[in-house]
Amino acid sequence: MSIGRRKILRGAVAVGFVGLFAGVAKIFSSQNTNTPTAIGEPEPETSMASTTPETSAAEVMAGNVISKTGELGVGETFEFTSAAGIPAILFKSSSEKIYALSRVCTHEGCSVNFSSNDQTLICPCHGAQYEATSGARLGGPGRGDLQKINIEVQGDNIVELI
Ligand code: FES
Repeated sequence: MSIGRRKILRGAVAVGFVGLFAGVAKIFSSQNTNTPTAIGEPEPETSMASTTPETSAAEVMAGNVISKTGELGVGETFEFTSAAGIPAILFKSSSEKIYALSRVCTHEGCSVNFSSNDQTLICPCHGAQYEATSGARLGGPGRGDLQKINIEVQGDNIVELI
């Protein structure tokens, strides 16, 4: 091999190494710049800030919305299924008095029906009767009063508290 060819070959090898090092350096530098950006991104703070109002709204609306206060007139009732999965009835006896009772008879569990004529809840199975204003057992078979459903007026909503 002549001296001229050796010089050309050394030059080509040197250029190749320089290019190789430049490529490797570029790979490492791009990896290094990505890592701090990912860690330093303000996403957690942004998402925390956006969840705070939602959490507050969820706290205000804790429970199941049964009805809107405006949808139930004074003297009207509304049958619904409670969060526990039992039949229940909502009463609005005045603009201030809204309450709910379980419709599960304390005798053997049939669903009682509201009678607006005598303001009672009557069981169709064996005739137990309950006072509609309190759920107190008035007569017939049974082992106690109807269970009260825990409700609350929250703004425009009537909510079952869970
Ligand atoms: Fe209601 Fe028997 S189940 S009276």
